[in-house]
Amino acid sequence: MMKTIAVLFLALGCCLCEPQNSGHIQQSGGSTSSCIPCSCPKDDDYLARKVALLESKLQKTEKDVSELRSLVEGRPQVAFSAALLDSGNGNVGPFPGATPLKYKKVFSNTGSSYNPSTGIFTALVKGMYFFRLSMFNQQIPTPKSVVNLMKNSQIVATIWDMGGTDLNDTGSNAVVIPLDVGDNVYVQLMAAAIIYDDSNLSLTTFTGFLLFTM
Ligand SMILES: *[C@@H]1O[C@H](CO)[C@@H](O)[C@H](O)[C@H]1NC(C)=O
Ligand SMILES: *[C@@H]1O[C@H](CO)[C@@H](O)[C@H](O)[C@H]1NC(C)=O
Repeated sequence: MMKTIAVLFLALGCCLCEPQNSGHIQQSGGSTSSCIPCSCPKDDDYLARKVALLESKLQKTEKDVSELRSLVEGRPQVAFSAALLDSGNGNVGPFPGATPLKYKKVFSNTGSSYNPSTGIFTALVKGMYFFRLSMFNQQIPTPKSVVNLMKNSQIVATIWDMGGTDLNDTGSNAVVIPLDVGDNVYVQLMAAAIIYDDSNLSLTTFTGFLLFTM
């Protein structure tokens, strides 16, 4: 508090005086009317204290700058996006049980949190993440298409296309969720369901990125 007041007076062009018996700071020499006149012995001792004050202020500023720099430079970069098929076209499934989808056509994978050989995204930093999935259903043949966005073994969001004989339905969903280090996020195709993709069109995709660390 004292240092703040002293620096403020310096900034106003006032003279910082040696604290008297009371320990209060007085000042003079400035044109500002709020300055209280006093005599300021500008001896070596006074200048040494003034330099020490500025030095400690500078050290604090340098520390703040270095903390801010490490925050910006150390910010983890996590982003991935992938489509289901990297060659050909056709349905994936049906499988007898719920199965994680392996999105093979990787558009981006900064931070390598997404594993295309398992289809699983694993959080390497604790934070708030955005995920989006889209699903294409050609309905030829006509079993259902159901996919779940999973966090570990919990369903977070779902896309359904169950009935009807209409062709070429598409659906999407997105969430923002907190993840701890080691949490797994993936898309699960439900038992007996199918999903369609065309590697030239990338109709069925899975995307995620870190919004901010926590
Ligand atoms: C994708 O495009 C290439 C080049 O046009 C073509 O040769 C290939 O057959 C296409 N693949 C599919 C699955 O349509
Ligand atoms: C369905 O999509 C396929 C491409 O996957 C396209 O060739 C076909 O014309 C579409 N059919 C209809 C009825 O929209």
